[in-house]
Amino acid sequence: MAEQYAGFNTDNLALEEILCSLPVGLQQHSLRARSKASELAMIHKIDSDKAGLAGLCHDIARHMSGDELYLRAKGYGIPINSVEESNRILLHGPVGAEILIRSCGVDDSEIIEAVRWHSSFNVGLGPVAKCTFLADKLDPNKSSRFTDMEGKYRLATKSLDKAILAFIEEDVMNMLNNGSEIHPASIEARNWLLGLVS
Ligand SMILES: [Fe+2]
Ligand SMILES: [Fe+2]
Repeated sequence: MAEQYAGFNTDNLALEEILCSLPVGLQQHSLRARSKASELAMIHKIDSDKAGLAGLCHDIARHMSGDELYLRAKGYGIPINSVEESNRILLHGPVGAEILIRSCGVDDSEIIEAVRWHSSFNVGLGPVAKCTFLADKLDPNKSSRFTDMEGKYRLATKSLDKAILAFIEEDVMNMLNNGSEIHPASIEARNWLLGLVS
């Protein structure tokens, strides 16, 4: 069995080092996301260890500045759309996924897609990515951004797809009201989820 490292109890030293170097608030958010992703996975009979690990890793690049994310994304060859170009913090998921692959040796495609798309979500994502997206959004640190977090949590215990739809739709409405740009992956994901829940 692989050795366990103190702190985050993963069996991946490179990942442990990155997680331990994150700002304390981000470490705490990551631990809560692991717990929530794992809980949702258990409720829906999904691999809870995998969902928990994706939740734990989802924000490993969240502390970087927009300019650093942009430079790293360019360096990694990540395609950058116009919304990400002007809202560079949106690149923390794709950049975090590349760091997991390149620096931590994580090669599980479900974990990688979960981290890559945890902000915007996207069409065709699997159950681990669904739990990770919701674990991030259901965190108390998002309670000023979304209404009825308790209701959304209850919805998530019944239907991951309906809960993700609720978060995306509220986010899109807010962005429309604020005159903000909307990530095209969120729109495509919303249309896909509408088909799934109907
Ligand atoms: Fe994030
Ligand atoms: Fe997060």
